[in-house]
Amino acid sequence: MDIAKLTTELDQIERRVEDALPTLRSIDELRRFEAEILGKTGPLSAFVKAIKDFPADQRGQVGQTVNSRKNRIEARLGTHRDALQQQAAGAEQQAAASFDPTLPGEWREMGSVHPVTAVQWEIERIFVRLGFTIEAGPEMESEFFNFEALNIPGDHPARDMQDTFWLKNGMVLRTHTSPVQIRAMHKFGAPLRTLVPGRCFRYETLDASHECTFHQVEGLMIDRDISIANLIALSKTLLSEVMHREVELRIRPGYFPFVEPGIEIDMNCQICGGRGCPTCKHSGWVEILPCGMVHPNVLRAGRIDPTQWTGFAFGLGLTRLAMMKYGIRDIRVLNAGDLRPLVGAQRLAGAIIRE
Ligand code: DAH
Repeated sequence: MDIAKLTTELDQIERRVEDALPTLRSIDELRRFEAEILGKTGPLSAFVKAIKDFPADQRGQVGQTVNSRKNRIEARLGTHRDALQQQAAGAEQQAAASFDPTLPGEWREMGSVHPVTAVQWEIERIFVRLGFTIEAGPEMESEFFNFEALNIPGDHPARDMQDTFWLKNGMVLRTHTSPVQIRAMHKFGAPLRTLVPGRCFRYETLDASHECTFHQVEGLMIDRDISIANLIALSKTLLSEVMHREVELRIRPGYFPFVEPGIEIDMNCQICGGRGCPTCKHSGWVEILPCGMVHPNVLRAGRIDPTQWTGFAFGLGLTRLAMMKYGIRDIRVLNAGDLRPLVGAQRLAGAIIRE
């Protein structure tokens, strides 16, 4: 190689650098290019290595030329690096300047568990401890499971006890959670302990204590020697545990076709403390736990032999219990879109979940 050729090639490299600079928009891009030109395998290193191949009298001049070009290129790249760094700092500063820490924060609604769900979970916990399984059944139910299997044949006056939503396909929206008793008996046979929380539907005129949809918890226990004493003891424990205080119970005979005998367990009204208020219709008591000993016809419909097994069943008014627990006076609040009246209750519900 002669000096003239060397100079031309160095010119070319410098031109390449000049062309590349405007396209290098970040420090990373610049660093990569720098390695390409100035790195060990780059063209400038090759020239430095070639110096020794020149005749001794030319080496000094060649060395000077290569070094001065190398310094120039390094300086150009250095200036470009400074410019890029300044740009980046400017952008950061601008972002910091446009951030206003005094602006009010974005408001987020805090979600919480619905009071009915909170009480449902609490009851489930109590019963799971007692060896009950938790079951569910369909909300659209057949006439067989909702009525017939529960000892309510088509012409039975008890059908009028529950105002029913009949569907065009001949099915009903279940009026209670009792049909799941039969489903559970078919599924598990005896002995059996099961708990069925669920939504029910009735064709009701709405007022402070009636909704066309509400929640119940069905309980069913079948074993060899089950008596009504077991049922009463369990009710007292259950209601006192859920209310977190000793409640008073009143026991009356009640009629339900699927139990014999049937009883009504009332609780002293937790809203007025039993003095009388619109929620308890000024009686001081609320019907909370209708129950009884499972009727032999129902056991038979569940394919369980009534000569071998007895059982009790109850249909806890979950919605009513949640209202009592959280002091909610109007049932319509529970399904309305307005969350404000539920906020206090929701806080309490949250407290229970975190227990
Ligand atoms: N299914 C009844 C209703 O909704 C409530 C009920 C009463 C359920 C007595 C039971 C029971 O299991 O034994 O009105």
